[in-house]
Amino acid sequence: MRSVDELVADGVSGRRVLLRADLNVPLDKATREITDDGRIKASLPTISALRDAGARVVVAAHLGRPKGEPDPQFSLAPVAARLAELLGTPVPLAADVAGPDATARAAALADGEVLMLENVRFEAAETSKDDAARGELADRLAGLAELYVDDAFGAVHRKHASVFDVAERLPHAAGRLVARELEVLDRLTENPERPYVVVLGGSKVSDKLAVIEALLPKVDTLLVGGGMCFTFLAAHGHGVGGSLLEADQVDTCRRLLAEAGDRLVLPVDVVCAPEFSADVETTVVPVAEIPDGQLGLDVGPRTVELFAGKLAGARTVFWNGPMGVFELAPFTAGTRGVAQAVADVDGLSVVGGGDSAAAVRQLGLDESAYGHISTGGGASLEHLEGRELPGLAVLAN
Ligand code: 3PG
Repeated sequence: MRSVDELVADGVSGRRVLLRADLNVPLDKATREITDDGRIKASLPTISALRDAGARVVVAAHLGRPKGEPDPQFSLAPVAARLAELLGTPVPLAADVAGPDATARAAALADGEVLMLENVRFEAAETSKDDAARGELADRLAGLAELYVDDAFGAVHRKHASVFDVAERLPHAAGRLVARELEVLDRLTENPERPYVVVLGGSKVSDKLAVIEALLPKVDTLLVGGGMCFTFLAAHGHGVGGSLLEADQVDTCRRLLAEAGDRLVLPVDVVCAPEFSADVETTVVPVAEIPDGQLGLDVGPRTVELFAGKLAGARTVFWNGPMGVFELAPFTAGTRGVAQAVADVDGLSVVGGGDSAAAVRQLGLDESAYGHISTGGGASLEHLEGRELPGLAVLAN
């Protein structure tokens, strides 16, 4: 895989470079302000390397999941504004993705200048399963530049026009973020130092079954919390009250529990409440005693202690997914406790993207205490699963 630094060494001055970045940041629903700009900051090293070398940078990115047509709610305007602030240079936003405005603005760029295209998902073809439809959009995107750099690690698992097809049409390279992410994740898959402990949380167990299957033979211990633990607890024979439950996954969870033996560790207590709200009365109960009509919304203090004990001796740790609905104060303690235990690990600790990375920052934890905070949620999980990721495979060609 060619690196952006090799591309720069070959000379990019005066050349237009289409840069796919993952700038899919969370926005406050009411104010549309960015609540966590981690992904924008993570894109700076590659953008700066290109600008410093005199490239004319055209940034392509997505935000949220609009329905394949322009929707002001999903405009990249706040992202372009924040990127401009961080770079200390204007970042105008094209009115379209690869239409007349983008084309005219890209053509007018001067050396070192940056243009941002509007949300690539405003084009239905971006995410289409139809190769020809994606190809037509990729042709237009490729027409905006002479070179392509993919630094959107969080999106490399998507076979999308701006991630996959465009790389087939232009000389290409991987950005610095992609390189760094792969370097760290490969340390987890190739001979991790042991004990190797993985902590998984988040709401949907169905999203995580494939990675659990792939990781079980490789890890020493797998700790499971978050909304997904209730399907495992049900498989174990516990009543889970009104907690999240994917009934159609109970049998699979039961099989995994049997296969894993004591390597798969479930919570022993949970924080319950009658509803998901900030000022609700909570109780902590053992997992065997979740009352009907109550929802488990966080792991309890004995679980935090149990998980922290398993993490204490680990040499390699990967953590993906919050332990509870940490966005609300009564349910932050489980995620905070596990995040702290992961930070205290004397070895390589990797936080796997999305919600867990946001949790680390929102809970005010020290980011430098972690070996690596990935920008990719789904992408890092699929990479650990050992799946071929389309956006990486195409870069390697
Ligand atoms: C992410 O947020 O994980 C990436 O930006 C990919 O977004 P997506 O899941 O909407 O494809």
